[in-house]
Amino acid sequence: MDLEKLLSDRLAPAFAAVADGPVDPLVRRSGRADFQSDAALALARRLGRPPRDIAGAVLAHAVLDDIGVSAEVSGPGFINLTLSDRALADLVAGLAGDARLGVPSTATPQTVVVDYSAPNVAKEMHVGHLRSTVIGDAAVRLLTWLGHRVVRVNHLGDWGTPFGMLIEHLIDLGEAEAAQHLSMGDLDTFYRAARVKFDADEAFQERSRLRVVALQGGDERTRRLWRLLVTQSERYFLTVYDLLDVGLSGDDFRGESAYNHLLAGVVDDLDRLGLLRPSGGAACVFPPGFTGRDGAPLPLIVRKSDGGYGYPATDLAALRQRVGELGATRLLYVVGLPQRQHFAMVFAVAEAAGWLHPPVRAEHLGFGSILGADGRMLRSRAGESVKLVGLLEEAVARATDLARSRNPDLDAEAAAEIGRAVGIGAIKYADLSVDRTTDYVLDWERMLALDGNTAPYLQYAYARIQSVLRRAGTAARPDASIVLAQPAAPIVFAQPAERALAVELLGFAGVVGEVERSLELHQLAGYLHRLATAFSAFYERCPVLRAPDELRESRLLLAGLTARTLRQGLDLLGIRTLARM
Ligand code: ARG
Repeated sequence: MDLEKLLSDRLAPAFAAVADGPVDPLVRRSGRADFQSDAALALARRLGRPPRDIAGAVLAHAVLDDIGVSAEVSGPGFINLTLSDRALADLVAGLAGDARLGVPSTATPQTVVVDYSAPNVAKEMHVGHLRSTVIGDAAVRLLTWLGHRVVRVNHLGDWGTPFGMLIEHLIDLGEAEAAQHLSMGDLDTFYRAARVKFDADEAFQERSRLRVVALQGGDERTRRLWRLLVTQSERYFLTVYDLLDVGLSGDDFRGESAYNHLLAGVVDDLDRLGLLRPSGGAACVFPPGFTGRDGAPLPLIVRKSDGGYGYPATDLAALRQRVGELGATRLLYVVGLPQRQHFAMVFAVAEAAGWLHPPVRAEHLGFGSILGADGRMLRSRAGESVKLVGLLEEAVARATDLARSRNPDLDAEAAAEIGRAVGIGAIKYADLSVDRTTDYVLDWERMLALDGNTAPYLQYAYARIQSVLRRAGTAARPDASIVLAQPAAPIVFAQPAERALAVELLGFAGVVGEVERSLELHQLAGYLHRLATAFSAFYERCPVLRAPDELRESRLLLAGLTARTLRQGLDLLGIRTLARM
């Protein structure tokens, strides 16, 4: 149950009565009361009346006492809202009895296609693909948990002119040798060697060109060699996904080549709709509102002057297929911000063509770059783009070392398990805890720190609660995941820190609902951090195991609920929790 929403729903009619029209009550958590509404201030300006009068008039209309909420006007015209202990205790008891922690499954399940990861065949995955994979995985997890039908699509770059040179290079190397290189993950060396030959050797260039023609013409041997490139690369990408602990599997690959047979139809239909304009030999659509620096209209090129189809045509075909065949009503594209204009134009053309219309919505979830310590794009010492696997291995190694140095008694297996959960968790959390659209600096010290807005801090809070629960007597509470049909004792708020923790726990549903719409995953991360911080304050001031019976039960319940919420929230972000750390 979403408390902020409940309070908003109660205040909204009162505001409407006073304003003679709809007003968002703007209910927020507050330090001065449990919640606060400051909508009276803006409304007062609009109506030209003193804000405190407005707030008072709203309260005269609002019905709140049946839900145990008391309200008062404070300061310049805020409305302070405070739950009675009784109401708060009942709500928390409700959470404890709910396997979904107050978050209902959606009443309106949608088919959501999430296009993410999407590396390119025979090319190393770079940090941009890391961000896409981590953000996409979290979006998939969250939407799935809410009951949507989620289709994962890994829009692999597996088609286009570079495949001529890649296949020729493969032939030069010999199939076995080439397969060896690729499956080892030595994709960049392979790609670069092909490129070097292509740039230096005219005969190789010519062979490559002919090879593209053969590939497009469906020549059998060429197809087989192409398939080999794709399969080896896919195999390698799967090892990266495994290391990264994300749910993408072999079934989710649906590369650009899968839309080949639809491309001519896309262009024909655009032509029939009168949307096509020739431009320098190419076939283009000029969606309104897109202009270049010089003010000239920008084209989306759907067929190049050499007759080939490119990236935009493929995305149009894919969009149509996702809406038409998969029945998607929400299309998500987790791709870096440099492609913002590409997607805006693809969506605009699809709308103009009638392939994209309400209720179907397409959203580009763009993201910024990962920067090195110098504040520039992350590069290796040799100045090349950083290899993703190296990055992940380093995270795990650093986290394993830290775990061992903190706890020298750990056996190798336990250290490795912790290292993996914490190292990969830290990488993911560093990414998911910042506003997606901003760049961030990869800072090992910071992201692996046990304090601060980090995965280890949250994982540690979880493990600490587990340890308390274990010491409290494991028989009754084998782990924190249990759902209590009936709390063993009434929930008591002896200290403000208990209240604060309880109110924070009740905020989970609201945040998840918000993130379902916005997919701003940093809002969920920020919530989990606030929750863990509220727990720390509670744990500092409220002894649990040494408390008298009734208080002890109540505190154990709050602690157990915190652990369940942390675990569920981190799970939605794709981050593991550990019973011991
Ligand atoms: N392969 C592309 C790249 O590496 C990303 C593809 C994103 N998805 C899409 N439908 N265009 O930049």
